[in-house]
Amino acid sequence: MSGFLDLPALSRAAGTIRLPGSKSISNRMLLLAALAEGTTEIHDLLDSDDTRVMLTALAALGVGLDKRGADVWRVRGVGGPFPVKQGDLFLGNAGTAFRPLTAALALSGGHYKLSGVPRMHERPIGDLVDGLRQIGADVRYLGHEGFPPLEVRPAEIRLDEPIRVRGDVSSQFLTALLMALPLTGKPAVIEMATELISKPYIEITLNLMARFGVKVEREGWARFTIAGGQRYRSPGTVHVEGDASGASYFLAAGAIGGGPVRVEGVGRNSIQGDVKFADALAAMGARIEMGDNWIEARAPASGKLKAFDLDLNHIPDAAMTLAVAALFTDGPCKLRNIASWRVKETDRIAAMATELRKLGAMAEEGSDWLGVSPRLTFVANAAIDTYDDHRMAMCFSLAALGGVPVRINDPDCVAKTFPDYFDRFGRVAAPVIAIDGPSASGKGTVAQRVAKTLGFHFLDSGALYRLTALAAMRAGVALDDEAAVAAVAAALAAEFEGERILLDGDEVTEAIRAEEVGVGASKVAAMPAVRAALLERQRGYRQLPGLVADGRDMGSVVFPEAPVKVFLTASAEARAERRYKQLIEKGMPANMRTLLQDLQERDIRDAARSVAPLRQCVDAELVDTTNMGIDEAVAAVLDQVRRKLPK
Ligand code: DC
Repeated sequence: MSGFLDLPALSRAAGTIRLPGSKSISNRMLLLAALAEGTTEIHDLLDSDDTRVMLTALAALGVGLDKRGADVWRVRGVGGPFPVKQGDLFLGNAGTAFRPLTAALALSGGHYKLSGVPRMHERPIGDLVDGLRQIGADVRYLGHEGFPPLEVRPAEIRLDEPIRVRGDVSSQFLTALLMALPLTGKPAVIEMATELISKPYIEITLNLMARFGVKVEREGWARFTIAGGQRYRSPGTVHVEGDASGASYFLAAGAIGGGPVRVEGVGRNSIQGDVKFADALAAMGARIEMGDNWIEARAPASGKLKAFDLDLNHIPDAAMTLAVAALFTDGPCKLRNIASWRVKETDRIAAMATELRKLGAMAEEGSDWLGVSPRLTFVANAAIDTYDDHRMAMCFSLAALGGVPVRINDPDCVAKTFPDYFDRFGRVAAPVIAIDGPSASGKGTVAQRVAKTLGFHFLDSGALYRLTALAAMRAGVALDDEAAVAAVAAALAAEFEGERILLDGDEVTEAIRAEEVGVGASKVAAMPAVRAALLERQRGYRQLPGLVADGRDMGSVVFPEAPVKVFLTASAEARAERRYKQLIEKGMPANMRTLLQDLQERDIRDAARSVAPLRQCVDAELVDTTNMGIDEAVAAVLDQVRRKLPK
């Protein structure tokens, strides 16, 4: 364990994020593509610890893997059992790699060892080993009976009788058997010896097997039949859905922090059971909307989430998010039928209860349930331990929405499934102070001072338009060629290093302030394609602990959900005079009359353009600095901040 992350007190969450690929789907697809005949191109594969573990193992087993782009992998399937017949595999704490590989290797006719981190060696695997031994597989325990590490040796596989397997500890044992059995080419039957938990994960397995050409007949959840003679065949190109479990943190943030928060990458068409998390939020009164590929959550119309008492067996991972959301409800909540939590990355029932208490909540635990009482006020500065469990870290980020600072210990454990989780959380939860206004109103200086006082990030959006104009001019692109200028904007290699601004590694801090660049910026800023090309980049500046953004459309277009919006202006005469003084100080020629005329013309142009015209938002506070000095203007903005943001 190392390090910590201090989250500031937060109150509102709104915005849109694109989800990383689903872990469950990524690792299943990798294995199926590896075993299949033909080459599979997998798009949007999750890049995280658990998928890296799977990729490394598959490469060691003789599977050809090429990275073709940021999230695109080409997998050359081996068309049957693994060709490499010997290996020593380290599988970290990735259950989605360990269990299916154990089964596939047991049927591959080789000699292998499988091990993981100490916690992996505490996570049961006996039910899977029992199932494999029934069909003649030679699987041995190298440490404790019933737990990894394991050794697998060649053996003759017999499939004359149904395999009986338990499904009440983890559904991954059944998933592992189902995915591996087609390697034998023989007909096979699996019968459940117990109730099956986490059924939606089996649906993901069956769905993906079918995509790779193997059909499984299912009788309820008790019996599964794989007809003989089926083999995996590559479907060509496949796409990994966004991670529905990962979506739960953002949707909960929207339900708790006002919203709307939209996640992209999962929706109505998802094959992941965890999209049902949205139903649980809806049952709590949250307002949910769903499209084919997105889900959006907002707080209840009443503002307060309702207490719940729910059987959550079908969404064990996303259910953890509800345990923290329970703090924000109107009464005691109960999460039922979650025994599998005890054998996950950590004992999640115990861990959750312990950490919830640090926030002041009452938490009661049973063998397969958790009770949580809500809080009106949260204990500030709780230091949350995360137990090397990515979901603990992600869940407890929501506690900061209780309006208190929260410390997350060992935040990097999110790398298991969601390496940039906290950046993306910041994209919906970090408070934004939007300062818009006309040229020379002093907003740049004021915004910078406010950012410094608060310790927030700072975005000078005008600089991006200036950089675009300068980059286009340097590249010989005509400033009236909208498509070409938009391409320049999209590829802008700009860096902000404190006060210094770099373009393609070249310092341009002074150069972008030149009059001709200002005129060029004003031209390109009127082009819709240029504004669109810069939109996501500007939103990327929204990071914890917060952002002060200065421009023309910060409150109206880029950050419409900003809790603090200021329209900073001054009379044209006052602005002309300020610019006049600046120029004289720099020893540059200046003429009061032309300056005033230029400003007035630019005001008219900025206000009249069809996209993002300059105007005061209805929800923005007017700060007129005509008769104010900088200190007074900064104080006026900070006063807004004090009234609208939690301390
Ligand atoms: O604030 P500034 O003078 O550096 O802005 C340069 C140009 O970019 C100016 O013509 C206005 C335009 N701009 C814009 O259209 N939208 C923004 N958010 C910021 C600046």
